[in-house]
Amino acid sequence: MRSDVTLRPLDRNLLTDLLLAAVEDADPLEVMPPVEGPGGWTPERRAAFVRFHESRSLAADPVETTFAISASGRVVGAARLCPVEKRAGTAEAGVWIGRSHRGAGVGGAVLRLLLDRAGAAGFASVYVSTTPHNLAVRALMAGIGADLVRDGDTLTACVDLRAGAR
Ligand SMILES: CC(C)(COP(=O)(O)OP(=O)(O)OC[C@H]1O[C@@H](n2cnc3c(N)ncnc32)[C@H](O)[C@@H]1OP(=O)(O)O)[C@@H](O)C(=O)NCCC(=O)NCCS
Repeated sequence: MRSDVTLRPLDRNLLTDLLLAAVEDADPLEVMPPVEGPGGWTPERRAAFVRFHESRSLAADPVETTFAISASGRVVGAARLCPVEKRAGTAEAGVWIGRSHRGAGVGGAVLRLLLDRAGAAGFASVYVSTTPHNLAVRALMAGIGADLVRDGDTLTACVDLRAGAR
C-alpha cells in the first residue's frame, strides 16, 4: 500500500488547495453537486465548491467530516464520512481523486485510512454507493472483501468495522 498518502481534516487553508486540485484535475460533476449555468469551472462554480464545503464540513455544526487527501505532500482529492440518518452507527463514504493521480494506488490507500478514521470516530459500519460502471470502486470493494449489492442502477456495500469483521 502507498505510504505517502495521508488524510488531513479539512480546514480553510486546505480548502484553498482542494479547490486548486479540483479545478486543475477534475470535472465539477465528479466533486460537487450540479450547479446551473455554462459548463466548466466558472467563477460561480468555484464559489459554490467553497460554499459546499464550508456549509457541510467547516460549519459550527458540521453535517459531515471531510479530509483532504495528500499524496507525496500534495493535495490530490477529498474523502468524506457522512453519518447516515436512518442507520445509526453507519457513515457513508465518498472519495474523489484528481484524474492525473487515479489508477496509481491512491484510492486503495485512502479507503483503508478512511475506514480507520470511521472506526476511530465510533462508527460500526461504512456504506458505499456507486454505479455498475465504476470499475475502480468495484475493485476497491473486492480488495477488502466487501460485497456489492445491486439496487436498481446503484451498487451498494456495507463494510462492517466491528472487531474481527475485517
Ligand atoms: C474511485 C477512485 C476514488 C479510485 O481511486 P484510484 O486512486 O484510481 O484507485 P487505485 O489506483 O487505488 O485502484 C483501485 C483498484 O481499482 C482498479 N482501477 C482503478 N482505475 C480503474 C479503471 N479505470 N478501470 C478498472 N479498474 C480500475 C485498480 O486496478 C485497483 O484494483 P486492484 O486493487 O485490484 O489492483 C477514483 O478513480 C476517482 O476519484 N474516481 C472519480 C470519483 C468517484 O468515482 N468516486 C467514487 C464514488 S463512490
